[in-house]
Parts: sequence; structure tokens; C-alpha cells
Amino acid sequence: MIIDTHVHYDDEAFDADREELIGSLQENNIGLVLDIGSTKESLPKIRSLMDRYDFVYGAMGLHPDEIGDLTDELLGEIREDMKNPKVLAVGEIGLDYYWNKEEQELQKAAFRKQINLALECGKPVVIHSREAAADTLEILREMYGKGSLWEALHGSAAPGASSGPTERKGVMHCYSYSAEQARIYTRELGFYLGIGGVVTFKNAKKIKEVVADTPLEYIILETDCPYLAPVPYRGKRNCSLYLPYVVQAIAELKGVSPEEVERITEENARRLFLFP
Ligand code: NI
Repeated sequence: MIIDTHVHYDDEAFDADREELIGSLQENNIGLVLDIGSTKESLPKIRSLMDRYDFVYGAMGLHPDEIGDLTDELLGEIREDMKNPKVLAVGEIGLDYYWNKEEQELQKAAFRKQINLALECGKPVVIHSREAAADTLEILREMYGKGSLWEALHGSAAPGASSGPTERKGVMHCYSYSAEQARIYTRELGFYLGIGGVVTFKNAKKIKEVVADTPLEYIILETDCPYLAPVPYRGKRNCSLYLPYVVQAIAELKGVSPEEVERITEENARRLFLFP
């Protein structure tokens, strides 16, 4: 089965046909989906989607554009959510210096705060990082690298393992940086890379290099729907049903069958998020 590790079915783009679309996923081999928190308003919608569908799971957290809403009260609500067995991660959290909707120092403080919550609750993080490569790396090294709180809690794993991360730290969602940096995120820090529709774009040379260079054991599948639909739907509303195009593109880059990509990425997603 295919696991879509990053959806926003709470988004208003799905208001007209949400039920029909989500209802069609399982018969089309999309076995599990993880709906990811973004705005304050997305959180109650994700709670009700999780209640309604047994194969819809959630991550709770605020996107860097939205951290103006991250009050102590809201953080308390998110902490409560972590007791729900269907809430598998904290996210999406991180830094966005492309839109720069919130001041960078505030973004960094909110990022650290939400990582601390994840560490406290034993959950992995779903990271959004756009045009903020240096600061993202600095914060992740501080929180998960040598001498970090993570190490104090879990000890340190052997670096450089090619069999994939042995720890449940998190995923670099919609990974957009270089292949060189991908080695650091994966093989030094033990994070997964979330790969989606962009890998099918003709001009997306960088992400194709990243996928070619990264062992499959570090890759999980995601749509980020309604955004970033793969070719041949580029520019249209995205949904999990289009993931086979992403699987096909990864299979070609790795020189393996689509079934192999599906099998390994499913194992990876299960290892990271512990779908019950
Ligand atoms: Ni997203």
C-alpha cells in the first residue's frame, strides 16, 4: 500500500468533494494518510477527520507563517492532542524565510518550542523549511545532534548507517535543498526526506539529484495536497490518488521497480510514525 505522509484534507480546496475523495482512497491503494496541522483553524478540522475515518491520522502543530497564534493556551491544546493515539507527530513546524510572514527570531523561538513539545511527548516532527537552510540545520543540530537533549534522552546512534534512520526523529517535508545537505539531514542527523510531486517536474534537477543520491531507506512519500500536484496534473489541485506518478519517478531515478519503492517507503513511514 501507499502511505501519504503529508496531506491537508482539512483545506477548503476539498470542501466540495472531501467525503467522496477520502472515501475513494483505500480502494485505490492509498492505505493510510497523515493530515498535517498548519493553521490554528486546521487543528479542530483534523481532529474531526481522525474521528470520522479510521485510516486518517494526524500531526498537530503550527506552520511558521502561523506562529503568531501559538499562545500558551494553544500549545497546551496541542500537548493534550498528543495523548490521542491517532496523533502521530508534531507538525508542520519550522522556518519559512521565503514568505517571512513572521519575524525570523520569533519563527526560531516557536520552532524550538514545538520541537521541545515533540521531545517531551516522544513524537517525531514534520519540518517545513523554505529558504532557511542554515538556521534549520543549526536548530536541528542543537536539538537532535551531538550533545543535544535528544542524545541525553535516547543516546546516540551510529552515524552513516545506509539502512535508514534507526531513530524516530522526523522528516524534512517537501525537501528542497541540495544533495550535499540531504546527506547531513539523513546520514548525520537521522531524518527522513519527504518526496512528492516536485520530483516529476522536468526542470526539478536538484530534487532528482537528491533522490538519486539518497538511499530509499530515508525516503517517505507525500503529496502536500492540495499543493504541488505531480506531472501530468501540475498546477491542478493535488490529492493522494496521484502518488503513483511520484512512485514511478522515484523508481526510475533509483533503478528499481515501483513496487519496491512502494514497499520500502511504506516500511519507512511505519517505522517513523508508528501507525497502529
Ligand atoms: Ni504542508
